[in-house]
Amino acid sequence: MNTPSSSAPAQARFAGQVVVVTGAAQGIGLAIAQAFAREGAAVSMADVSRDALEDAAAKLRADHGVRAIAVDADLSTEVGAAQLLQRTQAGLGEASVLVNNAGGGVILPFLSHTPETLRATVDRNLWTVLWCTRAFLPPMLRSKYGRIVNLGADSVRNGLADHAAYNAAKGGVHGLTTGLAREFAQVGITVNTVAPCAVNGEPLRKFVREKPEVAAKFLSVIPMGRAAELEEVASMVTYLSSREASFVTGQVISVNGGSTML
Ligand SMILES: NC(=O)c1ccc[n+]([C@@H]2O[C@H](COP(=O)([O-])OP(=O)(O)OC[C@H]3O[C@@H](n4cnc5c(N)ncnc54)[C@H](O)[C@@H]3O)[C@@H](O)[C@H]2O)c1
Repeated sequence: MNTPSSSAPAQARFAGQVVVVTGAAQGIGLAIAQAFAREGAAVSMADVSRDALEDAAAKLRADHGVRAIAVDADLSTEVGAAQLLQRTQAGLGEASVLVNNAGGGVILPFLSHTPETLRATVDRNLWTVLWCTRAFLPPMLRSKYGRIVNLGADSVRNGLADHAAYNAAKGGVHGLTTGLAREFAQVGITVNTVAPCAVNGEPLRKFVREKPEVAAKFLSVIPMGRAAELEEVASMVTYLSSREASFVTGQVISVNGGSTML
């Protein structure tokens, strides 16, 4: 028997909702923003890189007839996260969904890291999530509803080559997920993480061009024998962000072609 939510048209799932996507200028974040816009959300697109962000927001408005704003801010700082909250509230209203996608690896053997690359790894992948989550949780608490979805990494589980420092940061995101999920379980807020393995975007393509032997190691752990397409990651993010995912919280869900199982 159809429930009201299962019979609703898919494109209406996020109509009337404001969704924040960090790291939305390119790659997985841009694909996530496009997926939400296709389903009717107003989208606040944030990135430290201004290049392409304004154009991407304009394209979302033109292609999908939704409201979309571009917020350039360094989200690894408390000030940057506060700017994102303030500009989202002023431009679109209160957000019901926060997707902490900003990140990206400095993928190196552990002893090849410099102090700068270690800090950049933790700043990009963990501090962005901590500050943005702290900024957006209070209004979600006031409205007694929220969906927080983080981008983690399956490399935390499979110990992928050269990923130790990155895994330290992403492991922090996985840990934050379970802790927050428990803390807010009874107030309408769910917290989950999507953990991809290799994804078919520019960071992987750069590896294939510049360090093909290392890229081959990343792909060799995937039983499906290929990287994920951007949309295959985005669809899990929109599911976890939807009202229908109401009983799913505290989960780190791999989208990984089988690179870890269970
Ligand atoms: N690509 C993969 O194979 C893969 C695998 C597992 C996990 N992930 C994760 O998925 C997410 C997206 O990856 P991607 O491949 O699209 O990466 P990407 O490098 O193409 O995009 C990441 C975006 O985040 C932005 N960003 C970084 N630091 C920021 C900061 N301090 N403030 C604001 N914006 C910031 C960057 O400017 C960039 O636009 C990342 O968290 C990444 O770690 C990616």
